[in-house]
Amino acid sequence: MNSQLSQLNQMFALDDTLIFRAIGDGYIVADIQNTHCRASLALQGAHLMSWQPNGEEPVLWMSPVAKLQHGKSIRGGIPVCWPWFGAHATNPDFPAHGFARTVMWGVKASSNLADGSTAITLGIDGINQGQWSDQVPVEITITMGKTLELELVTTNSSKQAVVLGQALHSYFQVSDVREVSVHGLDGCDYLDTVGEHQHRTQHGDVTFDREVDRIYLDQGQELQIVDPGMQRLISIERKNSHSTIVWNPWIDKCKRMGDFGSDAGYLDMLCVETANAYRDVVQLQPEEVHRLWVKYSVERSL
Ligand code: BG6
Repeated sequence: MNSQLSQLNQMFALDDTLIFRAIGDGYIVADIQNTHCRASLALQGAHLMSWQPNGEEPVLWMSPVAKLQHGKSIRGGIPVCWPWFGAHATNPDFPAHGFARTVMWGVKASSNLADGSTAITLGIDGINQGQWSDQVPVEITITMGKTLELELVTTNSSKQAVVLGQALHSYFQVSDVREVSVHGLDGCDYLDTVGEHQHRTQHGDVTFDREVDRIYLDQGQELQIVDPGMQRLISIERKNSHSTIVWNPWIDKCKRMGDFGSDAGYLDMLCVETANAYRDVVQLQPEEVHRLWVKYSVERSL
């Protein structure tokens, strides 16, 4: 562990900006602090745990009782769901949301950019848990500055087409989900997955007064989380995504899941996930590369 950590620091630490450290039971995390923000990233799952631009409240929600455990996904931050979203299409024994969020990713590169932000690239190749072709690797580049950008790049180097599903499963910190709305999905069709699955159409902004678990099919337009309580607006710009999952577990599911900190733990979080899911899964042909990209920006709103 110590030698792995010192090797990582020798190769990829950036003076005053990025350092690797081990927490808990040998769990390796990169801490980032630059002129724009602070962030922390777990190598397991390439899981961004926090991002806080200077002068702002934390943008990502993290469960107060989140466990950092090998082989388990962390409740909060941005889990990377890959190479499928939700249940596997044919094999119920494969883990929900794919295996990428629970395996170790390797660091490929790190750099400070001219605008003062910090970028890190991680990849998993050859780790497929027997559930995916090892000729279809994935990399993620996370750029942390005044804004936060993530790009998930999947390359099909195999001889066959593959079906790729994925999501950047962002948990956002909100003041009180009952007062928050998601703007930009008016008129979109969605699959409502609470109870028996139903197709519906969104009218107006998405608001929250019950469990919400929906896969919206959209045009890849910009979305906004409007939070009057925090006087904050989070904008979500994306490329190569035409599906968005909006999820809040509400009271009963929050109690059942048990890792939200308290029975009211659902109130200050909201997931708005940039995805290729449901009818938006990608048919990736041999030699094709798919880039799922998202950028989050924060603005004050009065
Ligand atoms: C969301 C799904 O993306 O993830 C929900 O729409 C699910 O149905 C949630 O409960 C959390 O999933 P997990 O596997 O992290 O508990």
